[in-house]
Amino acid sequence: MNLKKHPMVIAIDGTSASGKSTNAKLVAKALGYVYVDTGAMYRTLAWYCLQKHVDVREEKAVAAACRQWKAKLDCHVKDDLPSIRLLVEGYFPEKEIRTPETAAAVALVAAVPKVRDWMKKTQRDCIQFGNLVMEGRDIGTNVFPETDYKFYLDASLAERSARRAADGVHENLAARDQRDSQRAVAPLMIALGAVVVNNSGQTPNQTSGLIIAEIKKRLGEKR
Ligand code: DC
Repeated sequence: MNLKKHPMVIAIDGTSASGKSTNAKLVAKALGYVYVDTGAMYRTLAWYCLQKHVDVREEKAVAAACRQWKAKLDCHVKDDLPSIRLLVEGYFPEKEIRTPETAAAVALVAAVPKVRDWMKKTQRDCIQFGNLVMEGRDIGTNVFPETDYKFYLDASLAERSARRAADGVHENLAARDQRDSQRAVAPLMIALGAVVVNNSGQTPNQTSGLIIAEIKKRLGEKR
């Protein structure tokens, strides 16, 4: 795919609680792009499996649930930002996808190859909505490897745990990162050519400012 003739995709990957969502939203707002949270898509499927009493440790059962569920892409405006989400039979489980139960199930669901195939296709279909800032774990390596705009965010484990705790969420981030990095299919890793940003001690304005400046520099070089 030649992105010059197609919508632009900014890929923002990184570890859990590394500031992907906050910064991806700031970048999308500054550029007037559509924001896509792919983690929320995996969480939506994890929630669906729990709802349907699918054993998330059973790869075949999760793959079957993914084949059967009726999920549709939807672009809606939230906090002045056009954002993509998956509606399941018309419903978006906004609160439910953030519960500890869903958080515990999601890395298992995200490790299933058939799920990753479905997600990749669905996430690529998001370009129907325009230029994108897409955050996740495998956007630069697997979903849009052709994009020239790849960023990888990280921060110290202590700082990331403190950020989650400030949101009232206590979870073992190291364990989830390990599962995300060690799975066989599309593991979390730094994409070739990605700009690595360790944002320990940085404010979101500093981190997003750095990303926006890099994008503008590259866009200028292409003209
Ligand atoms: O970013 P998050 O915490 O909402 O992501 C939820 C889980 O989904 C996380 O454990 C990793 C997985 N994920 C993934 O495997 N690939 C993505 N592109 C996005 C998320």
